[in-house]
Amino acid sequence: LENGVARTPPMGWNSWNTFGCNINETLIKQMADAIVGSGLRDLGYRYVVVDDCWFDPARDSAGNLRGNPSRFPSGMKALGDYLHAKGLKFGIYQVPVDKTCAQYFGGYPGATGSQGHEVQDARQFAAWGVDYLKYDWCSPGGTIDDQVRTFAKMRDALAATGRQIVYSINPNSIHAKTGPQRDWGDVANMWRTTEDITNKWDTGQTNGYPMGIQNIVNVTVPLASYARPGAFNDPDMMEVGRGGMTDTEMRSHFALWAVMASPLIAGNDLRSMDPATTAILKNQNLIAVNQDPLGLQARQISNDGTRRVLAKRLANGDVAVALFNQGGGTTTVGTTASAIGLQGGSFTLRDAWTNAVSGSTGAISASVPPHGTVVYRVSGGASPSATPTVTPTATPTVT
Ligand code: GLA
Repeated sequence: LENGVARTPPMGWNSWNTFGCNINETLIKQMADAIVGSGLRDLGYRYVVVDDCWFDPARDSAGNLRGNPSRFPSGMKALGDYLHAKGLKFGIYQVPVDKTCAQYFGGYPGATGSQGHEVQDARQFAAWGVDYLKYDWCSPGGTIDDQVRTFAKMRDALAATGRQIVYSINPNSIHAKTGPQRDWGDVANMWRTTEDITNKWDTGQTNGYPMGIQNIVNVTVPLASYARPGAFNDPDMMEVGRGGMTDTEMRSHFALWAVMASPLIAGNDLRSMDPATTAILKNQNLIAVNQDPLGLQARQISNDGTRRVLAKRLANGDVAVALFNQGGGTTTVGTTASAIGLQGGSFTLRDAWTNAVSGSTGAISASVPPHGTVVYRVSGGASPSATPTVTPTATPTVT
């Protein structure tokens, strides 16, 4: 969406993965403090997104949304002010239908969705200083045409406020489950590609609830051509630092999100991160790959079911290559400079995890542990700005 924001994938934190409905202003402020104190803000994590359950179950007599008075007693404008004073951006959750997900399925009272209140709610968000709206279609029923129409209504209402607001949509209850996928770049800055993520490597789902990391990668890799500045596939908030995975799997998760030009929205408790989690979220090589101004999503170079290679062309002519081992044993994953579109006889490979630099005359390979991903930034070659040749994005065969 050409609305001036999200020229690179948005980065930040969202309350849902760890806290679900149990949120309040003290918690959000503590997280804001932690994002600054940990150094994450200065690496680009700017959007603090308050997910479902922030609102009063009833609108006021004029039909305005308001914060839940026991959870957010200072009000939503004050929260926005707090975040802005810390150099952060304010994100909030709402739905295009009658009820939020928690109101439909989680027992949260009321029916405060934006249906029929789009213009009023967009103005309210702008008045609170909202910089990011997560707009979640969480209702049973509806068609893809209904979705396009309905999501476009809020797009236009946000634009009419004159405030720059990242528009993040979730059409997951219809088409992501049943297909076909859609390029939502005409409607939103980012759009969910699957059902909800969970902190497991593989849930065996092709696109059901909930999705493991491997499953989400399988769905999102073939959508690479949709990604561009202002418009990104969203494979959901990250599960780094949430347990349920090995450190190797967490590193892989982050590396794959980075090369897929996915929004990097942390979902863990930032007040209590272990060193492995901190190191992953702060990996500057991968953040640079993710935030590259070309805004390209890595294309699949090969996938034999075990060894999968993805390549993301970068603005300075380098190519980031992800060597992903989907299997259960350590194996060598490899490709070549020419397969990723680089010509010439001498290249430099920088390992994004170790920073080790090595030379190559064309071979690009690494021994990769099970569920691991090695990422190299490859520079050099005679035509460094060449476009990587890509294999058609056939449906992956991995389960
Ligand atoms: C849906 C979304 C989640 C989260 C919840 C909130 O499931 O996909 O990301 O926002 O709703 O209820």
